[in-house]
Formats: sequence, structure tokens, C-alpha cells
Amino acid sequence: MTYIASDTRYDSMPFDRCGNSGLKLPLISLGLWHNWGNVDDYNNGKAMLRRAFDLGITHFDLANNYGPPAGSAESNFGRMFSEDFKSYRDELIISTKAGWDMWPGPYGNFGSRKYLISSIDQSLKRMGLDYVDVFYHHRPDPDTPLEETMGALDYIVRSGRALYVGISQYNTAQTKEAARILRELGTPCLIHQARYNLFDRWIEDGLSSVLEEERMGCIVFSPLDQGLLTDRYLTSIPDDSRAGKGGPFLKVDQINDEIRSKIVQLNQLALSRGQTLAQMSIVWTLSNPVVTSALIGASKTSQIEEIVKGLELHKPFTSDELKAIDNIIGQ
Ligand SMILES: NC(=O)c1ccc[n+]([C@@H]2O[C@H](COP(=O)([O-])OP(=O)(O)OC[C@H]3O[C@@H](n4cnc5c(N)ncnc54)[C@H](OP(=O)(O)O)[C@@H]3O)[C@@H](O)[C@H]2O)c1
Repeated sequence: MTYIASDTRYDSMPFDRCGNSGLKLPLISLGLWHNWGNVDDYNNGKAMLRRAFDLGITHFDLANNYGPPAGSAESNFGRMFSEDFKSYRDELIISTKAGWDMWPGPYGNFGSRKYLISSIDQSLKRMGLDYVDVFYHHRPDPDTPLEETMGALDYIVRSGRALYVGISQYNTAQTKEAARILRELGTPCLIHQARYNLFDRWIEDGLSSVLEEERMGCIVFSPLDQGLLTDRYLTSIPDDSRAGKGGPFLKVDQINDEIRSKIVQLNQLALSRGQTLAQMSIVWTLSNPVVTSALIGASKTSQIEEIVKGLELHKPFTSDELKAIDNIIGQ
């Protein structure tokens, strides 16, 4: 059936300015790391994109290596885009990245100019796009000079392949240096994509201040710690969950008694605030002023609906609640 986007798609989603750029991002963005590969149900992925856009999620995040197999999330997204979203291109922020292993040989990973420019060309082809909105360097490269990597990002923008650039997984010092080089090149770094959630607060230890100083946006990935910070694993490991499916990223043995005890207590706290744990975990990340958008993953449309609904239900955390959260995490 032909997809026509909901007329109410901009009625409730708040948008936040990304650093000091002209670009605004929805508070919730959707990533296609899991559940859009060739191993996944195409129609489910397509339904999730439709529902997300209907709820005001205008930002879809990809990478060259998302799948499995690597590249297939971009190819499937390209097909969904051509079936459903072509006429909405100017309402969408589509990002992709390069940095991790993509093809054999010395030019298929990390941060050389050769790799990054070849990779963006492959990504555009797979997605059937003329340009992406944001192109990221996906992880720092210990060997390639940062000037070369940032120079490639600058070229990718100047050649029309991307409108903005970002970095991901860069530590505080690397971020400062990358921002300086890009500023001097005249292509400011729009955004840092960093891991951040109740269990992993590393950005509070220096990176946040640099992002504020540089007036760079911040989109946080795995805000639910891959599903740990939800009611998914309170009592068991469901077969259809990320851990239950046995993939390499969230392993069953990570869900030990200590973690489960913390999740159970956090869940009780969330319920006492009239929220689910997933909703509380997301609004907690967004309550850090440096965070522009929470980049969630999903395996079902109902999960996206729950998270978006959580923005409406949100009330600021009291200092007692924040202390209680810290006590649970620190146990
Ligand atoms: N830059 C980087 O290096 C990097 C690294 C990782 C991720 N990312 C980006 O960040 C995106 C999100 O990462 P992530 O998937 O780890 O994010 P996440 O939001 O922490 O975890 C998503 C998973 O949580 C579960 N979930 C989501 N909503 C739920 C709800 N309401 N109730 C119960 N369970 C729920 C689902 O797992 P089930 O499958 O168990 O249902 C879902 O797949 C990726 O798609 C990617 O775009 C970037």
C-alpha cells in the first residue's frame, strides 16, 4: 500500500538545535544498526520507519557496515526510501558513517581519504541517494593523520556528498583536535555521536564541556544500553530479544544477577514516576543539556511508540530521584 505520512507528524515531537548550527534534530532519532539487515523481516523494518516518521522522527541513522551482512541495512533502507520516502526527502535527516571493517584489504576500514571517499560513494549507491545529511567518521584511526581524515570529511561536504559531518567514538582530546581542524578547513563539526546511558556516563567526564565550548551537537547512541535499560530482561531473556537472539553485541552472560538487581530497582523507580524504565532511561539522557537527540534502536513499532509517548509523560527528576538512581547504579 502506498505510504502517505500522517498529517500530525509535527504536532508533538520537540526539536532541538544541533550545537550552533542551523539544523534541528528531533529529541528521538532512530538507528538502523539492528533489525534492518538481510537477516531481518523487511516488512517489520519498513513499518518501523513509517511509524517513526509519523511520530515526528525525522532522523534515520545508518552506517556502511550495518546489517548483517554489512551494507544490507543501507540497501534495505534504500529500497524502503524509494518505496515510501522519496517525496519526503527534504523532511529527512539521513546519516551514514565509515570507520569499521567494510571490505577486504588495507583500504576497507579506519580513516584514510581513500577509504572514506570510496565508502560514501558506495553508501550513496546502496541507499539510492544523491547526498546524505550527515556523514560521520565512525571511530578514530590511530595511524592516519587526523588532518587527512578531517580533510576527507571536508572534501565530502564540498563535493556535495554530505551536507554536514560528524565524528563518533572520539575521546575528549581527539574531539577537540578534530573540531579545530574542521573549523580551520571551513566545515565545522556538526555533531558527536557518543555512547551514553544510565550505566555509561563517560561523556560527563570532559567530553560534555568540550562539546559545549565547541558548540557542537551531541547525539547519544545505545541510550537504553541495547535494551538492558527496559523491562525486557527483568525476569528472563526473551527469545526475540537482542540478547536472546545470540548476536555478538549484547551477550546473555552480561545479564548477570548484579545487573538484573539494578534493572529491577530502576524499573520500580520508573514506575513510581509513572513511566516505564525505557521511558525514564531516555528522558534521563535528554536531561543532560549537552544532548541534542537520543538515538534509539527498536525491533517493534510499539517500542518506538512507547519511547515517544515518554516525552509527553516526562516530568523533571527531583534531586532525591537522581540520588536514588545514582545509589542503584553505584551498588
Ligand atoms: N556510533 C557508533 O559507534 C554506534 C554504536 C552503536 C549504535 N549506534 C547507533 O545507535 C542506534 C541505537 O543503538 P542501540 O540499538 O544499541 O540502542 P538502544 O536504544 O540502547 O537499544 C535498542 C534496543 O532496545 C530494545 N528496546 C527499544 N525500545 C524498547 C522498549 N520501549 N521496550 C523494551 N525494549 C526496547 C530493543 O531490543 P530488542 O531487540 O531486544 O527488542 C532495541 O533493539 C543504532 O541503531 C545506531 O544507529 C552507533
